[in-house]
Amino acid sequence: MDWRITRLDEVASTMDWAREQAVQGAPDFTAITACQQTQGRGRLGHHWDSPEGNLYFSFIMRIPGELCGLMSLSLALALHDALRPLTGASVELKWPNDVLVDGRKIGGILIEMEGDAALVGIGVNILHAPSGKAFLNEWQDIDAEAFLPLLLAQIERVYEEADPVKAAARWNELAAYKGREISFLHGREMLSGIFEGVDEHGHARIRGKDGTKTYASGEVMEVRPC
Ligand code: BTN
Repeated sequence: MDWRITRLDEVASTMDWAREQAVQGAPDFTAITACQQTQGRGRLGHHWDSPEGNLYFSFIMRIPGELCGLMSLSLALALHDALRPLTGASVELKWPNDVLVDGRKIGGILIEMEGDAALVGIGVNILHAPSGKAFLNEWQDIDAEAFLPLLLAQIERVYEEADPVKAAARWNELAAYKGREISFLHGREMLSGIFEGVDEHGHARIRGKDGTKTYASGEVMEVRPC
């Protein structure tokens, strides 16, 4: 992977920077890190806290639409694998592609499209975290600049592997809430059922009264106590 990484002190959102590059036809793996973002965003239009000291990284990758699910699963695995050896704690994946350490979110992945280009944004709490979330320096004295190459190495590894069945199986081994009843927002609807893990497209398998259905997108809002 031929990374071309631009490093900036401050941007509105690294996603916007990546989008402009994609529009101008920049090649795959054109990437950006910023020390801070003034308008960082998460999935579903949520605000993403972006003070100096955490990792804010976006890159461009053109892949066929049918491989988007594999990409989402694989990136979560890559983030897991970069974090796991540094924490010595339980690191789990929360559908669709959050990473939790000790049950608290430490990082998330946002995928947006610009034409045929996927814009991948990864945020990891390194020095700071909003209340109730985790940050890497709770376990490891490392800064965002030093963490980035560890993450890139894992992204390259999962990219080379590119096996949807294996990726889904591994994701499911690391899944939080598997077998538990969850409530999740799907579009504007609040649904619930037993979370059975993901399929090879990265879609959640939820068992409800009418059997098991798959959902391409959603946000887990509540997990019932065991
Ligand atoms: C989520 O969990 O909701 C996804 C969070 C993604 C945050 C990253 S930080 C780098 C990139 N720039 C943004 O504005 N968002 C993503």
